[in-house]
Amino acid sequence: MFNIDWQNLTQKELSREHLELAKRSVRDLMDKKRSGKIGFMDVNEGIINLKRIDETSSWVRDNFEDLVVLGIGGSSLGGKTIVSALTNKFSKKGTKVHFVDNVDPDYFTDMLDAIDIKKTAFNVISKSGSTAETMSQFLVIYKHLCDKLGKKEAVSRITLTTDPKKGALRPLESSMGFRTLEVPQNIGGRFSALSDVGLFPAAVAGIDVKALIEGAGERAKQASSEDIAVNDALKYSIVKYVHAQKGYNTCVMMPYSTKLFELSLWYVQLWAESLGKQGKGQTPIPAIGATDQHSQGQLFIEGPKDKFITFIGIKRHDNNVKIPEFDVDIDAFSYLSGHTMKELLDAEMHSTQKALYENKVPSVRIELPKLDAYHMGSLMMFLEVATAITGEFMGIDAFDQPGVELGKKYTYQMMGRKGY
Ligand code: PA5
Repeated sequence: MFNIDWQNLTQKELSREHLELAKRSVRDLMDKKRSGKIGFMDVNEGIINLKRIDETSSWVRDNFEDLVVLGIGGSSLGGKTIVSALTNKFSKKGTKVHFVDNVDPDYFTDMLDAIDIKKTAFNVISKSGSTAETMSQFLVIYKHLCDKLGKKEAVSRITLTTDPKKGALRPLESSMGFRTLEVPQNIGGRFSALSDVGLFPAAVAGIDVKALIEGAGERAKQASSEDIAVNDALKYSIVKYVHAQKGYNTCVMMPYSTKLFELSLWYVQLWAESLGKQGKGQTPIPAIGATDQHSQGQLFIEGPKDKFITFIGIKRHDNNVKIPEFDVDIDAFSYLSGHTMKELLDAEMHSTQKALYENKVPSVRIELPKLDAYHMGSLMMFLEVATAITGEFMGIDAFDQPGVELGKKYTYQMMGRKGY
C-alpha cells in the first residue's frame, strides 16, 4: 500500500455530517457491489482468468514484435497507463505494445507504414462492439491483414476483447473463429483497467499481472470500511468533496514521474466521465512534475483559488542518476553536483507543495514506496474507488455516461447507421 500526506486537511475540514455522509456512501457502494451491479472491485485470481491472459499473451510474445491495441476511452487508457508506468519506452527488447485510440488518418497511416505487418498482432477492444472509432479501425486493419496475409492469418492475428455475451463483436468468435477476451458485463469501460482490457496488453508487455491484481485486490478490501482511518480512498474522496463544495472545483493530478503521466490522463477520463453529470462535477486537469512547474504551475500557485492538487511521489526509484562535477566551477549549476536527479525531483515536489500551501491552495501527496506492478494496481484501484464513492456523495450514478452515448448516437446518425 502507500502513504498519504494529508497536510492536516482532514482535522480542519471534516464535520460530523461529512463523516456520516462518508459512511452512508460506503454502504450504498457496497450494496451495489454485493448485488452484482458493479464488478470493478472484484479483482482476484478466482474471478480474473489469469490462465487465459497468460496463454494469449504468451502466444503474442512468442510470435510477434509488436502488439497494436485498438480501442478508445476506457478501452484504451487503462492499459496504456499500466504499460507506460511499468515498461521501458525506449527499449527494443520484447514485444512492444502500442495504443492507437483515434481515427486520425495521418497517425493511423504512420502506424501502418512503420510496423512490419508480418510481425504484428492486434487487440481490438470494445465492450459494446459498436463504437464508431474502434469499429472503423477494426475494419481497416482486418482488410489490411487480409490483403497482405490472407483471411486465415487476419483472423488469427486479431484478438477481440468484448462483452462476454452482448454486442456485435462477440458472435465473431463462433462465426469466424476470432480469439476473444472479456470485459465483464458489470464493469464499465473506464473502470475496466484491471480486467482483460488492461491486463492482456500489460502481460504482452511483460508486466507481472498477478502482482497488479494483488495490489488492486488489497486496496479493494479496504474499500468496504466506513472508517476514514482505515479506508484511504474514502478519506481522499471526502476531503476532495468538502473542498469542491467550498469552491475548489478543479482537481489537478500531478505525479512527479514521467512514467505516470498517462495515469493523469486516465484519471481525467475516470473522474470526468463518471462524475460530470446533471450540471455537477469537478473539472480534472492532468499535469506532470517537475515539467508543469514551468507551465501550469504558475496558474496553480497564483491563479484562481479553485484548485485541489493531488501529488504523487515515488519513494524508491529503480535507478538513481548522480549529477556529476563539471570541468569549470560555475555558480549557476555547480551547486547541483554531488546531488542526484531523485533529490532534485523530490525537492521540486516539496517546494511546489510548500508554495501552494503558502498560497492557500489545498493539496495532498500520495507516496508510492516504489513504482512496481503491486503499487500500480493499488493506486489505480484507490482512484477508482475514490471516484465511485464521490458519485455516491454527489447522488449521481458514476457508472453511466449518457452524454457520451448521445454523442455516439449523433455520430451513428451522421455516418448513416440504420435506425439512428
Ligand atoms: O468509460 C466508458 O464507458 C467509455 O469511455 C468507453 O470505454 C468508450 O466509449 C469505448 O466504449 P466501447 O468499449 O464500448 O467501445
